[in-house]
Amino acid sequence: MAQSNMQSVAKEVPVETGVERKDRRKLSEMLTRIVASSHVLYGKVRGVHWNVVGPNFYSLHKMTEEQYEDLHTANDDMAERIRAIGFTAPTGLSTMIKNSVVTDETELLKTDEMVRELIEDHEKMAKLLREGVTEADSVDDPKTADMLTERIGVHEEAAWMLRATLS
Ligand SMILES: [Fe+2]
Repeated sequence: MAQSNMQSVAKEVPVETGVERKDRRKLSEMLTRIVASSHVLYGKVRGVHWNVVGPNFYSLHKMTEEQYEDLHTANDDMAERIRAIGFTAPTGLSTMIKNSVVTDETELLKTDEMVRELIEDHEKMAKLLREGVTEADSVDDPKTADMLTERIGVHEEAAWMLRATLS
């Protein structure tokens, strides 16, 4: 009945697409770390977008807007990939912070300090994604590997663009 479906809670579902459960499970844990890190980074990029001051205001304000919009879309795709390989996506800000390689920042920093921190964060993301690609390749999941490969380049490019605003 429709009503009982509405009361259901998301849970693991069987997936028979050729990747073993234990491998999909491990991959879903890796994707959870990636989604969580990307989510924390999203929040930090917004913080810079709102609080940037100084001669590079306009370029950094625009650049961070492009970056958080990209993170928003990519994160949605990667969280949904976890569902597609049979597992449940992370929920709740504290879950994101707990599973993130990007450290949450609550202190308001100087603009150049915020930018330097974002550069490091994008580099951490690229590094984590590279591990993700290796893992996806090792269990023969080219779809996940493709998705994550694409993200490596985006973060490397974001780090370059931010670095170029610092003299
Ligand atoms: Fe805005």
